[in-house]
Amino acid sequence: MNNYILHDGYAIPKIGLGTYQLKGTGGVRAIEAAINNGYRLLDTAYNYENEGAVGRAIKNSSIPRDQLTITSKLPGRYHGYDDAIVAIQESIMRLDIDYIDLYLIHWPNPLEDKYVEAWQALIAAQKAGLVRSIGTSNFLPEHIERLEAETGVRPVANQLELHPSFNQEEVLSFHEERDIQIEAWSPFGRGDIFADATLRDIANSYEVSIAQLINRWHLQRGILPIPKSGNVQRQKNNLDVFDFTINDDHMKQINALTQADGRRKDQDPAKYQEF
Ligand SMILES: NC(=O)c1ccc[n+]([C@@H]2O[C@H](COP(=O)([O-])OP(=O)(O)OC[C@H]3O[C@@H](n4cnc5c(N)ncnc54)[C@H](OP(=O)(O)O)[C@@H]3O)[C@@H](O)[C@H]2O)c1
Repeated sequence: MNNYILHDGYAIPKIGLGTYQLKGTGGVRAIEAAINNGYRLLDTAYNYENEGAVGRAIKNSSIPRDQLTITSKLPGRYHGYDDAIVAIQESIMRLDIDYIDLYLIHWPNPLEDKYVEAWQALIAAQKAGLVRSIGTSNFLPEHIERLEAETGVRPVANQLELHPSFNQEEVLSFHEERDIQIEAWSPFGRGDIFADATLRDIANSYEVSIAQLINRWHLQRGILPIPKSGNVQRQKNNLDVFDFTINDDHMKQINALTQADGRRKDQDPAKYQEF
């Protein structure tokens, strides 16, 4: 699979597997199938309570560890420096791996105002070899600017809610200028895109599924989508997007579907906090 190159020099796959709700032995089976069908980036989090399932799937698969990119995330309740270091150590043990490839602060929780301290812990964890690359999730430009101003280190990636109903057009250039890779969470709008008639018509014109169309749309905007599917056929379909190109007119039609209040669950990182 093609890669994006992060500003710290590491390459990561252009599409990943979202693993939220893939838990227990059923979760292991679904994640293992995804790895065997070509997924090389797995997105988990301490708060998904499935790092054990992800780790077991990695062990069961025949793919060497160094060919996989494992992402996990720091929960809001552990933004204190010492708590953050312990949480990272716990995630590594639960995943049963030696290091995490890409580690993110899950939410900035700006009302708590401890995300800079959390970032200092991630910088230390990187120096200690616990994590390879460090980034953020749900950070607004003002939060990223503050990280860089106070620590001199900017994230390699920022994982954001991003789908046709909320396409984040106004922050794309901010990330491009700083070479921060955007990852799209809920890249299919938690499944909402599948009922959209415009997307259905455009997808039909390329003889692809709506899921393929939208993963391709993400890639053509330079975004890294992490769709979740527990179904083997849908997992395969979601990866099969490297042999067609959406034309400019169709890109514009998809871009025009965005809405000012298009977030699926009203989770504006300026106010919403998650622990
Ligand atoms: N950083 C954050 O704060 C944050 C927040 C939310 C999510 N995430 C990450 O982003 C990942 C993806 O987001 P998400 O799980 O919310 O939603 P999503 O990927 O936008 O959509 C998942 C839904 O689409 C369905 N689906 C997947 N492929 C399909 C296909 N080809 N055809 C028809 N239906 C299909 C899935 O059902 P089946 O499983 O039955 O196929 C599931 O119901 C999560 O798993 C998680 O890793 C991060």
